Amino acid sequence: MSATARKTAPMPDDILAMKGDTPIVSLTAYTTPMARMMDGICDFVLVGDSVGMVLHGLPSTLGVTMEMMILHGAAVARGLTKSMLVIDMPFGSYEESPAQAFRNAAALMRDTSAAAVKLEGGTHMVETIQFLVARGIPVMAHIGLTPQSINTLGGYKVQGRDDQAEALLADARAVADAGAFCVVLEKVPATLADQITTDVAIPTIGIGASAGCDGQILVVDDMLGLFTEFKPKFVKRFATLGQDGTAAIEAYAAEVRARSFPGPEHIFSDKAPKK
Ligand code: KIV
Repeated sequence: MSATARKTAPMPDDILAMKGDTPIVSLTAYTTPMARMMDGICDFVLVGDSVGMVLHGLPSTLGVTMEMMILHGAAVARGLTKSMLVIDMPFGSYEESPAQAFRNAAALMRDTSAAAVKLEGGTHMVETIQFLVARGIPVMAHIGLTPQSINTLGGYKVQGRDDQAEALLADARAVADAGAFCVVLEKVPATLADQITTDVAIPTIGIGASAGCDGQILVVDDMLGLFTEFKPKFVKRFATLGQDGTAAIEAYAAEVRARSFPGPEHIFSDKAPKK
C-alpha cells in the first residue's frame, strides 16, 4: 500500500510487509516544517545523525549527541501523523554493550515517540539488535558505508567492492537474522545491492545503491538542493532551493537598500480600519 493512501502512520511490520512490493519511500527530516512537507508522502521519515553536518555545520556525524537527536526527533514528531518516524542512534550511544544501547534507544523512543531506531553495523551488532528487538525496540540496520566509522573505513568510500562483497552479504544476512525489520545499504555497488535484496527477507533501503532495492532514502536538504557545499554522486537534486533562496535574499537586500520594501501593502495606517 502506498503511504499517500494511508490515514495513519505505518508500523515497522507494515514496512517489513512492503518487501518486494511497492517501493518504500523515505527521506530524512530534522525540523517540524520539513516533516510536514513529507508527511504521508514518505512511508517513513528518518531523523538522521546527518543533522550534525546538514544543520549544525559539523565536519562529520561523530559529534552528534543524544540531546541533539532528541531535540530534532521531537520537532519532527510534531510534523508527522501519516509517516512512520525512525531515529538514528548517535555515535557512542550503543556500541559499548546491548544494555547501553537499550538505555539510549528507550530514551530516544520515549522522548521523540519514534517507532524505531536505526544503528550502524552488521555482524558485530547482532547481539545488540537481538537484545533490542527482544525488548520491544524495532531496529533498522545500516550497512555498507557507515559514516560513524569513517576513521576506520578510511573515508566515504564505496563499500563491498571485489573481495569485500562476501563480508557485506554476510552483514546483511546477520542483521536480518538478528531481527532487524529493514536494512539501509549505503554506497555499495548496484549488483551487490541487488544480490542482497534478493537474498534477505527484510526490505533493503538504498542510498547510493540500486534502483532494485526495496526502497530509497536521501538526505532531504541534498535532494532539495539546499545543501550545496558538495553533491555526492548518488544525490539527485529535485529542486534548487539553495540557489532560489540566495536569489530571494539578494532581491530582498536590493529592495531594502532602494527603500522599495516595505511597500504600501505591507505597512499600517494610523487609523484603525472601520468594522
Ligand atoms: O544520517 C542519515 O541521514 C542517514 C541516511 C542518509 C541513511 O543515515
